[in-house]
Amino acid sequence: MAEDLNIQKGTKQEQYESLIPQIQGLLMGETNLIANLANISAALKEQFNWWWVGFYWIHEDELVLGPFQGPVACTRIKKGRGVCGGAWEKGETLIVEDVEKFPGHIACSSASKSEIVVPVYFGEKMVGVLDVDSEHLSHYDDTDKRYLEKIVALIPNS
Ligand code: SME
Repeated sequence: MAEDLNIQKGTKQEQYESLIPQIQGLLMGETNLIANLANISAALKEQFNWWWVGFYWIHEDELVLGPFQGPVACTRIKKGRGVCGGAWEKGETLIVEDVEKFPGHIACSSASKSEIVVPVYFGEKMVGVLDVDSEHLSHYDDTDKRYLEKIVALIPNS
């Protein structure tokens, strides 16, 4: 496992292309879920310096806060609530260009302006979400969707 992340400059695509093999390296041989979610959060935060990066995991009828990087956040989200609960209900990635225009958005931090939430599946079963927030409007697009979906698919058991 590499001890240091090699931070890539360049286009978003170049940054993801450099990061993905490094994430594969971080996950290699490690089966502990918390360790892997923690390192994925840290790697994304380090490469992109987004405001907040982390996981919510499905426990019974709620999403519960998991490993993350960034300011403290709300701990429990019901299905259908906010962007995270919406992505859970739909079972698909949601991109929100302006969180203030998203009905029911849960403002963990007033600094957050745009957001992408990507479902995590283990086989057919949805088990959690990756939530990423930016302090800039319209920060996430289909490139982020494509690469973040690839990244969550690397989590062992997925
Ligand atoms: N904004 C999210 C809540 C989680 S925080 O952003 C970390 C939402 O609306 O689901």
